[in-house]
Amino acid sequence: MKILLVCLGNICRSPMAEGILRNMIAEHGLDWHTDSAGTGDYHVGEQPDRRAMKAMRDRGIDISDLRARRLRPSDFDEFDLLLAMDASNLHNMRAVAPSTELAEKARMMMDYAPGHALREVPDPYFGGDEGFVAVYDMLTIACANLIDDVRR
Ligand code: 4NP
Repeated sequence: MKILLVCLGNICRSPMAEGILRNMIAEHGLDWHTDSAGTGDYHVGEQPDRRAMKAMRDRGIDISDLRARRLRPSDFDEFDLLLAMDASNLHNMRAVAPSTELAEKARMMMDYAPGHALREVPDPYFGGDEGFVAVYDMLTIACANLIDDVRR
């Protein structure tokens, strides 16, 4: 199973999702591959946002090795599932897909957390540290359900 986590800048939400998911994958002993990407190219080559790294580090997960890259059409061939953090990401991802058939691989991350009040992972970039903690909490629920769902 190959899963790509996608947001706008690939420095806040999607690297946090990647860190949480790869940590759970390791805990479950699964042979899955994860990566993350952004629909925008503003932060290509950069480490995750300091606030994202801190929120993760405070919860025992190191994402300092991750570097931002832009989503590319070939990602739709390489990955089984491409998960958007919000509806704008999903729209932009589908526009990059090589075909309408491959575009079907793109889904909303929060589809895996149907009981949660929010359907989108809010962009924490222009807010404070508390936004990153809220993102961590919702991504943890979605990633746990995703693993259960795929293994079922
Ligand atoms: P992300 O957050 O999409 O969760 O990585 C953002 C990071 C940077 C910007 C927007 C959102 N930006 O406008 O630079």
